[in-house]
Formats: sequence, C-alpha cells, structure tokens
Amino acid sequence: MPDFEQQTDFGDRRVPLGDKQAMVDDVFRSVARRYDLMNDLMSLGLHRMWKDLLVAKLNPPKRRAFAHLDVAGGTGDVAFRVAASGGPGTRVSALDVNPEMLRVGRSRAGRRRGGDRVTFVEGNAEALPFPDDVFDGYTIAFGIRNVPRIEIALKEAFRALKRGGRFLCLEFSRVDTPVLDRLYDAYSFAVIPALGKAVAGDGEPYRYLVESIRRFPSAERFRAMIADAGFSRVDFTRLSGGVVAIHSGWKL
Ligand SMILES: C[S@@+](CC[C@H](N)C(=O)[O-])C[C@H]1O[C@@H](n2cnc3c(N)ncnc32)[C@H](O)[C@@H]1O
Repeated sequence: MPDFEQQTDFGDRRVPLGDKQAMVDDVFRSVARRYDLMNDLMSLGLHRMWKDLLVAKLNPPKRRAFAHLDVAGGTGDVAFRVAASGGPGTRVSALDVNPEMLRVGRSRAGRRRGGDRVTFVEGNAEALPFPDDVFDGYTIAFGIRNVPRIEIALKEAFRALKRGGRFLCLEFSRVDTPVLDRLYDAYSFAVIPALGKAVAGDGEPYRYLVESIRRFPSAERFRAMIADAGFSRVDFTRLSGGVVAIHSGWKL
C-alpha cells in the first residue's frame, strides 16, 4: 500500500509519494507522440550515442541465449539496440508503466532491426511481473529518476536478474565544470521548455523533465543506493562532461 503521508519530489515540487506515479504518467502520456523527435532535439542527437555506449557496455553475446529486460523502455530505443547487438538467441522484454509509450514502441518494432526479438510489456519497475533469477541483463535508461521508490525498483532489478547478471543504468547526472554548468543550466531551463512548447504544444512536461534531472541523487550517492540493493562491483562512468552517467553493477 502506498504511504500517502510520505512526501517526495516531483520536479521542484513536494508531492505525496502516493501521487507521484500518476503525475509522471500524465507527463509521459502527453509527450509520447513527440517523444522521439523531442529526444533528438533536446539532446542535439546525443542520446543516440549515450544509448549506443550503454549497449556496448552490456555487450550481449552473439552465440548463446541472452534474456534481457529493459525497464522504463518507453518507445524501445534501448531494447531495439540490445536486440540488434545480440545474436539470434537474444530476447528482450521492454517494460514500461505507460501504455501510450508502449504503443509508440510497438509501432516502431516492424521498422527496427531486432524488432522481432522485442516484446513490450506493461508493468511497473517497482513490482516487476517476472519470477526471480530470470534475466541475464537489466537496463534502465532515463527511467529511474521517474520511479517514486527508487530503492524498491533497484531491489526488483536484483531479484529478477540471474546470478552473474548485469545491471546497467543510463541517467542524467551533474555537470560540475565551471562555465559548462551555467551554460547547461541556461540551456535546460530556457531552451528545453520553450522547445517543448513550440514542438509539442506544451512546455510544462519538459519543465518537469529538467527539474527532475536536478533532483536526482549525485552519481556517488546513486552508486551507494545500487550497492545497498545487493549489487557487487558497482561503478559509474560519466559521459559528456557529466551530463549523463552509466552506472553498472553485478548480481554475484
Ligand atoms: C524519459 S523516458 C525513457 C524512455 C526510454 N528508456 C529512453 O531512454 O528513450 C522515461 C520512461 O519511464 C517510464 N516510467 C516512469 N515510471 C515508471 C515505472 N514506475 N515503471 C516503469 N516505467 C516507468 C515512463 O513511462 C517513460 O516511458
């Protein structure tokens, strides 16, 4: 049962923990149709490189079976990459809580390499609809900061992975370089919501996205949270001056 007394962040606002998921769902319902275009525009295409690097780190095997779970899979970007990069024995479940995002993902599958190896599943990162110890790999890209109870989602990742399975998370991080940090802030708070308004007709969901990035724990703090969930050899790599980081852990 959600604890409605407890508060959490929704962007820069404090909201009841039990309300956050519905608010996040509203954001992604409203951006789903323009999500892929906006991703390219907002990141100046960089999200493609970050996702390629995530999948290169995962390095799914070409010659043996590989069961992969991509959580908060949205429109399938990471799932398609994992499927295309693995061999014929690679199977990917792309799980997302939002039916609108999944609808866009399913409609892209026919046009994407590896699309026939991807199954889209509606479900919540905090309560994965899978048994224990079934996946060789778990990824979550730009998803974990939207999940109300991150600790529970991390425990679920650990539960669903097999021993020897790998957890990888691509998420926004902190830009700590002088000058670059101010440019990045100006771009995020001025350009992104304006772009959202011009292209998608509403700047508000994009304001939430930018604020939620700033609220996400530091890479060091998030590393500790991953370790607390039970993962071993936990580490992270910063990319693009700290705009994003790839976090890695193993279930050993
Ligand atoms: C920014 S999008 C990322 C989509 C995709 N991974 C990508 O990188 O393009 C965040 C996604 O997280 C999903 N999401 C939010 N809360 C979730 C939850 N509790 N469980 C599963 N997915 C969730 C949203 O529906 C949305 O599709």
